[in-house]
Amino acid sequence: MTSRDRFLSALACQPLDRPPLWVMRQAGRYLPEYRALKAQSSFVHMVQTPALAAEVTLQPLRRFPGLDAAILFSDILVIPEALGQPYSFRDGGGIAMDRRISTRADIDALSPVTAVPEKLAYVADTLRLLKSELAGSKMLLGFGGSPWTLATYMVEGGSSDDFERIKLLFYTDRATFDALLEKLTEALLVYFQMQIAAGADAIQIFDSWGGLVAGADYEAASLKWIRRIVAALPADFPVILYAKGTASHLTDQAFSGVRAISVDWTCDLAIVRRTLPANVAVQGNLDPVLMQTTPGIVARETARLLESMRGSAGHVFNLGHGITPQAKIECMQALIDTVTGWK
Ligand code: CP3
Repeated sequence: MTSRDRFLSALACQPLDRPPLWVMRQAGRYLPEYRALKAQSSFVHMVQTPALAAEVTLQPLRRFPGLDAAILFSDILVIPEALGQPYSFRDGGGIAMDRRISTRADIDALSPVTAVPEKLAYVADTLRLLKSELAGSKMLLGFGGSPWTLATYMVEGGSSDDFERIKLLFYTDRATFDALLEKLTEALLVYFQMQIAAGADAIQIFDSWGGLVAGADYEAASLKWIRRIVAALPADFPVILYAKGTASHLTDQAFSGVRAISVDWTCDLAIVRRTLPANVAVQGNLDPVLMQTTPGIVARETARLLESMRGSAGHVFNLGHGITPQAKIECMQALIDTVTGWK
């Protein structure tokens, strides 16, 4: 069975001998070969150059042939950038956007959504390179941010500790908030359609900051826009929704039209599996901090999670969030060996 078939079967909630495995940021700073490439060019340059982006995407698969999916090397912030609000990295960590979006005039000054496919043509080129390189052996994942999560970066002007600006906009000027989310929803729809046409086998939507909004407002601030995107994509195309810190919304997310819910490490995955509809897959959810411990601890905790999911169909193995730069190669190897050797 190819990795791609295994992954598609898990998303279809069919029984499997073991779950497929991939991790978020699997191409990233914990890999020496990634750091070596990055020493010669900037992150944005690597993202925008298809041959480099494809190479970085494939690096973890060469080192760890047991991984079942390739995830496009890019960033959620290419959408604000394509709309005219570029990003950079702050010294000492975090994202800086070139300016802040705060008024209706700022939104009107953004580029039209029709510019997105042209500005992000390099993403389609990268996916086509990957598609031919992988030749159907591995699952090819495209992705993007959720409208809400992208709006937080655009309105806060980068990474934020308190998310006060975006929440104040939501509570005091709903028309402007909705106009921005509407624009992002349309841009993401066009972007995902382009990724699907270029060969993505599934799309993961990252609602990384969905847990920051008051519980009763999650629908209006985030989920309703995600639902609109999913409804406009081809009916049988698999979408995976990752939302951090949104445990009380898992059921609503499961009925949003997505094929799988990716859950963070704070949830007991076996309980989530029992709670959600049997035709919606779950993805997750080891604590990424484990990747900084020892291979023995990783093997033990991985086996514990696998055992808790024994007999449940519809599981994609993943970390509960992205792998960190401090992750150890030998811990990643232990994770892969334990999942691929599972009986
Ligand atoms: O998983 C993969 O390998 C695919 C590539 C990928 C990246 N970013 C590359 C990246 C994916 C799926 C993302 C998603 C992303 N980017 C999210 C959603 C996921 C999440 O983390 O919740 C968010 C919020 C972003 C925005 C972003 N980009 C942040 C917060 C950072 C870290 C900044 C910092 O200083 O710590 C990035 C940078 C980034 N994106 C890196 C990678 C490999 C690290 C870049 C580097 O320093 O080399």
